[in-house]
Amino acid sequence: MKPVIALTKGRLEKQFLDFFSSLGYEIKPLVEKGRKLRVETDQFEFIFAKGVDVTTYVQYGIADLGVVGGDILAEYQPDIYDLFPLPFGHCRMAVAKEKDKKWPTQKKTIASKYTKITKAFFKANGESVDIIKLEGSVELAPILGLADGIVDIVETGTTLKENGLIIDEEFLTFSARLIANRSSLKIKREELGVIIESLKQKEAF
Ligand code: PRP
Repeated sequence: MKPVIALTKGRLEKQFLDFFSSLGYEIKPLVEKGRKLRVETDQFEFIFAKGVDVTTYVQYGIADLGVVGGDILAEYQPDIYDLFPLPFGHCRMAVAKEKDKKWPTQKKTIASKYTKITKAFFKANGESVDIIKLEGSVELAPILGLADGIVDIVETGTTLKENGLIIDEEFLTFSARLIANRSSLKIKREELGVIIESLKQKEAF
């Protein structure tokens, strides 16, 4: 059976394909997949899912390996083997707010997809905040008056800028990471060894 690799759909997927192709691997079936969520190449089977679901498929052994943002690992802390950083998907976690607004003097309300990270950050700063969980387009929350600020990942900074928000504080940096199912690593050591080593050659840090 071919090793199964779970890829995070969207931005990381594109960056992974460029990287994978630069290592000499076949990516044509992946580029031409259309809306298919399972694609085979000569050597691997790929599945495409949302970041947090990538960790679930890897945790339960459906996928042997996964490519996922470090932000997802920090937030959800899945039971997987976190192998190493990959040289793409660099982003930082930041607190942001509207450009021309001051923080309220009383307790802040913060909207985020990353509620655990948000809680831990403010707790470490000795500050208690109200947190509202959103699933995406978090930048809307301060603009529409749902929250005073947000905690979110920033990659190019374009989304913040185009929505009139500025970074108040940056506190974590991430990249994409290669993760593995714990038992796959033992049972399929030889099959997985080659791909793991080749992905490691261009390690980010
Ligand atoms: C992420 C993040 C920001 C944006 C930052 O959202 O939540 O909204 O990317 O990127 P930038 O700094 O390059 O503009 P994503 O595109 O993953 O979609 P989402 O809002 O649905 O989570």
